[in-house]
Amino acid sequence: MTAVGSSFDVDAVRARFSTLRGGEAIFFDTPGGSQVPDEVRTAVADAMRDAAGNLGGSFPTSRRVAAIVEDAHDAAARFLGCAPEETIFGQNMTSLNFTLSRAFARSLREGDEVVVLQSDHDASVSPWLEACADTGGSVVTAAVDRDTCLPDWDDLAAKIGPRTRVVAFSWAANSVGTVVDAARVAELAHAVGAPVWIDATHYAAHLPIDVRAIDCDVLVCSPYKFCGPHLGLAYGRAAVLADWRPYKVRPAPTAPIGRSFETGTMPYEQLAGFTAAVAYWESVDAPGAGHAWTRELGDRFLAGLPAGVSVIGPPTSADRVATFLLQLDVLDAAAVSDELVARGFNVTASEHFYCLGLRERIGGKALRVGIFHYNTAAEVDALLAALAEIAAGDSPAVA
Ligand SMILES: Cc1ncc(COP(=O)(O)O)c(C=O)c1O
Repeated sequence: MTAVGSSFDVDAVRARFSTLRGGEAIFFDTPGGSQVPDEVRTAVADAMRDAAGNLGGSFPTSRRVAAIVEDAHDAAARFLGCAPEETIFGQNMTSLNFTLSRAFARSLREGDEVVVLQSDHDASVSPWLEACADTGGSVVTAAVDRDTCLPDWDDLAAKIGPRTRVVAFSWAANSVGTVVDAARVAELAHAVGAPVWIDATHYAAHLPIDVRAIDCDVLVCSPYKFCGPHLGLAYGRAAVLADWRPYKVRPAPTAPIGRSFETGTMPYEQLAGFTAAVAYWESVDAPGAGHAWTRELGDRFLAGLPAGVSVIGPPTSADRVATFLLQLDVLDAAAVSDELVARGFNVTASEHFYCLGLRERIGGKALRVGIFHYNTAAEVDALLAALAEIAAGDSPAVA
């Protein structure tokens, strides 16, 4: 077993989460949604008490709502590396992606193509299938390598061409954990004048985002995957947003530009929780310590995997985050998942985890283990021990 030598104080981090202190379960289900630190929960509750009103008044409640909104956009800008006016909130990643793709799709024409990746979450694909169904365009899928599940760069380069109007992809796969070289995709897309449109929902929980560094045009993610409330968040490059006509009611403000893509009254209490989540993240991850710890635990998990358990996708920590899709020789993944849940581990099994392009590659149900910065080395070891027992057939489920 590899030694864990990081100086990251995981116990101090865990002390900030009632649910982690409560001992209900060992949480390896974070790709589905993370636990929430108490300070985020408190910020949500405080906003419901102090800012239960709306924008537009000069009285204190309304001024507090306005402050919550400004703070949330400022926090989003820090989190994504952009200007506050380029940030957009919505219900969740899927809804926000439909909203923004609809606005963009006003300019799609018959014969236009949208390029996506085989490893994408469907929330990064179906909005384009729907847009193309309405406009006469088509969605073209670039393949991933069968073993590593990483992009086949030759295929991607061949599929991006003069008809390409957008290149959209999931930066990190919530199924197999692969990480796509986003800057390289952006270069290919921009070479034909197409915007690059990133689903960072899984990525945001594992690695820092700097939209300028990767030169992306649109990026969408979900704060509930990184210790925030259920909410969607997007970045749109100001110059790109300025070319679109949002679906909005006429009296709603048109500036700052990002906000003209938000419809109706925002969930102010969730925005307050989001700001607290970014502050939480800034406090635990400076400089990158939380992410480094997750990666270290991922290495430990890979190094300790028992015989009879195989990983779908990259076999090492390179080009991946610490999200592992597993199959066991001895038992199907749904039964393994049930057995692990019975032993107190939150894990899930699925045939695709919404990544329909990988369904055939996965070939039946697979077990997903998602490691996060609040997990401990002891939790990883406990899971490895349970997997070893199950894989060896020493479990009631195998009998
Ligand atoms: C990679 C990825 N993209 C998109 C989504 C959709 O996000 P939401 O649930 O916020 O709509 C998910 C949700 O699991 C995801 O993991």
